Amino acid sequence: MPNTAEGPHESALAYVPVRGGLSALRRAAADCRGCPLYAQATQTVFGTGPARARTVLVGEQPGDQEDRQGLPFVGPAGRLLRKALAEAGMEEEQVYFTNAVKHFKFAPSTSTQKRRIHKTPDLREISACRPWLAAELHRVDPALVIALGATAGKALFGSSYRVTEARGALLPVSHWDIPTTLGAEREDTAGSHWFLATVHPSAVLRAKNRADAYGGLLSDLRTAARFLA
Ligand code: URA
Repeated sequence: MPNTAEGPHESALAYVPVRGGLSALRRAAADCRGCPLYAQATQTVFGTGPARARTVLVGEQPGDQEDRQGLPFVGPAGRLLRKALAEAGMEEEQVYFTNAVKHFKFAPSTSTQKRRIHKTPDLREISACRPWLAAELHRVDPALVIALGATAGKALFGSSYRVTEARGALLPVSHWDIPTTLGAEREDTAGSHWFLATVHPSAVLRAKNRADAYGGLLSDLRTAARFLA
């Protein structure tokens, strides 16, 4: 674990290979011990999709199904997201799916040992995992990054990020404020990158008015689809 003047801090940075493509990153991430979340989780759930995808979708963290299968967005929220992508006219095979945090954080249910209750990652865990996200963005170099919910936004833009402020608007991005594998504090995107924030599909599943919430997600994804057309 890297040390600073203030003492040891949690970070994946020391585990991220400087060279190699997404496969090298995925292999290295399998052994990440950059924060304590690895200990409880079944496995690292790294991003999946084309190495040169024009769109990267960033979620929060793997859920129960993702943790078991080792793939992002394969549970109920993922199914809803894939349905919305198809309805918006975006081909899921063209999208790179990943999460801000690569290990499932959960608390065991008090009623049954088998159920695991999702816990939102905190800022320390988001920050510890950011070097993986930075490395993925660096390798894939997408034209558009879509953040699903607040955790993804905080991973990309820092702790003051609020999803409601930016929701549904296509915004140009000059840099990602995240540490890179090259050691720089900022990842320069050369001015050709765009960002769109929308709600997390789990929030749609939890919403009182699910049809409305789904309509909002769909409308944001349609904005993305028009941009990519
Ligand atoms: N929610 C996420 O944010 N990511 C997943 O992979 C699954 C559910």
